[in-house]
Amino acid sequence: MCGIVGAVSERDVQGILLEGLRRLEYRGYDSAGMAVIGGDHSVQRAREVGKVASLAAAMKTNPLAGHLGIAHTRWATHGEPSQINAHPHMSGDRLAIVHNGIIENYQELREELRGEGFEFTSQTDTEVVAHLIEKNYRSLGSLYDSVRAAIARLRGAYALAVVHADEPDHLVVCREGSPLVIGVGIGENFIASDQLALLPVTDRFMFLEEGDIADIRKDGIAILDREGQSVEREITRFEHGADSADKGEYRHFMLKEIYEQPRVIKATMEGRVTNTRVLEQALGTDAENLLENVRHVQIIACGTSYHAGMVARYWIEELAGVPCSVEVASEFRYRKHVIQQDTLFLCISQSGETADTLAALRQAKKAGFRAALAICNVPGSSLVRESDLVIMTQAGPEIGVASTKAFTTQLTALLIFTLALARQNGLPEEQEAEIVKAIHLVPGQVSDVLALDGEIAEMSKAFMDKHHSLFLGRGSQFPVALEGALKLKEISYIHAEAYPAGELKHGPLALVDSEMPVVTVAPNNDLVEKLKSNLEEVRARGGELFVFADKMANVKPDEGIHVMQLPSVHPITAPIVYTVPLQLLSYHVAVLKGTDVDQPRNLAKSVTVE
Ligand code: M6R
Repeated sequence: MCGIVGAVSERDVQGILLEGLRRLEYRGYDSAGMAVIGGDHSVQRAREVGKVASLAAAMKTNPLAGHLGIAHTRWATHGEPSQINAHPHMSGDRLAIVHNGIIENYQELREELRGEGFEFTSQTDTEVVAHLIEKNYRSLGSLYDSVRAAIARLRGAYALAVVHADEPDHLVVCREGSPLVIGVGIGENFIASDQLALLPVTDRFMFLEEGDIADIRKDGIAILDREGQSVEREITRFEHGADSADKGEYRHFMLKEIYEQPRVIKATMEGRVTNTRVLEQALGTDAENLLENVRHVQIIACGTSYHAGMVARYWIEELAGVPCSVEVASEFRYRKHVIQQDTLFLCISQSGETADTLAALRQAKKAGFRAALAICNVPGSSLVRESDLVIMTQAGPEIGVASTKAFTTQLTALLIFTLALARQNGLPEEQEAEIVKAIHLVPGQVSDVLALDGEIAEMSKAFMDKHHSLFLGRGSQFPVALEGALKLKEISYIHAEAYPAGELKHGPLALVDSEMPVVTVAPNNDLVEKLKSNLEEVRARGGELFVFADKMANVKPDEGIHVMQLPSVHPITAPIVYTVPLQLLSYHVAVLKGTDVDQPRNLAKSVTVE
């Protein structure tokens, strides 16, 4: 949940580290800090509460000069956001460390180290690691060996980067349960939690495996695996443009990412569908074999990705006729399961580093599922590396904490997967061709919805002073309503709840009055008439309705009903298209309320802790 970055170079590293932190800020932003080993072989450190901009401002007056450094942007887990809890943490005045993750046994180590005379200045778990390494250093005299010895005693999840003033030509990094990537330069090398941080300085990356520990020097990288064997990790090139981490002409990343959807949905389809059918082989060389005889699909994910899984359940059961269960990873991982024979385990994650999703996958691999399929947006992420079969979404880097293009590309990938599975289960060719045709129309339909941006911005004014809202949908639009409600609460801090419209009269209707806007997604489908009856129930209680519907749904604007007309879409692809106006609505409400759209309070983009 925090972001770490490090560099060893011929040039001064302060600028590289600051830019890296700016690009990692989506991971956490309650405080930031940096430590650099200066020419006099001492550790200089700067730490500030607040965003990276506060650190940058402070460093303008007090720059840190040096060719080796580490930096951190924090999302607090142990101890409040404050200067003393900000990273880098130090042991004495020679050793500095940055950490992303959680050390579970930090209390017992803290007591032990205290007993040996180490003094603690913060409430963090990280400071324990600093002292543990320093203690080892006193006897071993080598930073690399000291870090190795220290991590043997740690329980939990961590990516660490450590420097020592007595060894000013290298940094030592390791990972266990938290992401870490090495950026390979020419005469300089870098490390970060995410390759995006390093795009201004390199496009070549090496992903550490779980348990790896690496020695990073200007002119060399040496890695040992968990068993202490020297290993080489493959170097991959970053495929997306280096500018993908910039806002460009947009005011916020979220808006940019909403507008990118027609292009990235198309990119996710590319090479996977012809005009009439899905290319099963494009899902992986072993796809046919793995999908054959799948009798059940178990989907696991968190947050927005979970909502994508909920939509997929409607598709998988309707088109493939295969039973499908969906569960949030944090629940799945802590209960006993009855695993049906030939169950495919399907994880969905934008980042591929969500701790609960990864833990569920790791359990599943031991538990006898047929195979593990991942739908993921980050190449080289843990999820991708640990799954049997992977369908990459082509959303490109998503920086806004609120997930937008990741969701619609996940849906695109899930629909393609569903069709491949459905074909194995006897979906007639004509029906496959009809749906593939509908998928090809989606990018254009999403562009049509984006053209309604001005009208949606107008509509958003009605939400500005509200404290609560309801979102309704039926069938596969229910998860769309859930996703719309998540977006609104996440970035505008307005309490939003979603219900399947048929549930309204079983309780939530009691909440409806003129202060409770009710947003409804109502494409024309088998359920639209029933949905309209639900809308009448709201109107009769004085509720104000905001309905997104196509012409065929025939929902008429009236007193208390605002209707936004969307393009006509195939019922199967409607969840993808109907998500977009809800993203725009939340965005505009948040802008009107003046909240921090891209970095909403208390949240982080990549939830790499439990
Ligand atoms: O990277 P993941 O897709 O695994 O992340 C899961 C959730 O943390 C994420 O979708 C979260 O709910 C978003 N902030 C929602 O906008």
